[in-house]
Amino acid sequence: MIPANPEQLIIQEVAPRDGLQIEPTWVATEDKIALVDGLSRLGFSRIEAGSFVSPKAIPALRDGDEVFRGIQRQPGVIYVALIPNLKGAERALAAGADELNLVLSASQSHNLANMRMRREQSLAGFGDIVQAVQGRPVSLNASVATAFGCPFEGRIDEDLVLRLLDAYLELGVHGVTLADTTGMANPRQVERLVRRSLERVPASMLTLHFHNTRGLGLCNVLAAYEAGARRFDAALGGLGGCPFAPGASGNICSEDLANLCAETGIPTGIDLDGLLRLARGLPALLGHEVPGQLAKAGRNCDLHALPAGLPG
Ligand code: COA
Ligand code: ZN
Repeated sequence: MIPANPEQLIIQEVAPRDGLQIEPTWVATEDKIALVDGLSRLGFSRIEAGSFVSPKAIPALRDGDEVFRGIQRQPGVIYVALIPNLKGAERALAAGADELNLVLSASQSHNLANMRMRREQSLAGFGDIVQAVQGRPVSLNASVATAFGCPFEGRIDEDLVLRLLDAYLELGVHGVTLADTTGMANPRQVERLVRRSLERVPASMLTLHFHNTRGLGLCNVLAAYEAGARRFDAALGGLGGCPFAPGASGNICSEDLANLCAETGIPTGIDLDGLLRLARGLPALLGHEVPGQLAKAGRNCDLHALPAGLPG
């Protein structure tokens, strides 16, 4: 086996889930499948292709079963499903998800708004899921939402976030994610929490999930990377947001992040030109402009012709 490059920054694509869950206009199942298939060819090792939550909570993703069954799986790509409960886990397994992403919020109020239950109930349900998937060919990731701040409660105690990570590790999950659901994190806080998390888990098990709600998304990525983190969620076009978190807006943008890495010499293994082509199709698919910057500006290497008639 070729050893992983320790410098590599792994971008995990979440547009088909986080991105589409908040879109007001219905995206047809075949278009969701085409989006996942397009992303599958660009070098991502993980794609969160949908969620298996209550269709009343997130109507936009109610066709998760058909999406997972319809995609053309590429070797080496892990197709992830976000799930809130045992029912979601059973649906995701039946549809062929490779990895289940369990989610609860560090903030009790956001967990109540998002999952309609208390954190302790979410965690107890995850214990049941761990039992249910024993011996099945599926891996488990577990996310702490609102880990850097909550739109209802404000500041979140870092020790609480770490206790939740510990609880996840005790359950035996294979990976953990710290999610900044509404873009409240700042680079100093990120650096601190990443360092403390890496005392518990290796970088290969830790994912950072940032939203760019306050423009700090890529600053937070660099702070986390320099503190030793290597895995980051990002969404094509900078789509995304949690409908149960007031003021939520897009994830950090995959092509903007891939560009940051390309320009600073951090390897990602992502086909940036292919990603840009896909991103430029989003406004037509969704009927509105999307937040990503690179698709509008072009790459640094896309030079412009000098205007005619300049003085010699
Ligand atoms: N998939 C499909 N249907 C589900 C489901 C799942 N994972 N979990 C529950 N349901 C259905 C139940 O069968 C029931 O259906 P019915 O009304 O036809 O009988 C209905 O949803 C209510 O079930 P209940 O267990 O009482 O759920 P709830 O209303 O208390 O909601 C959650 C709890 C967790 C299911 C819901 O809040 C949810 O799906 N949240 C996820 C939100 C989300 O995805 N946020 C963004 C990503 S973090
Ligand atoms: Zn998110």
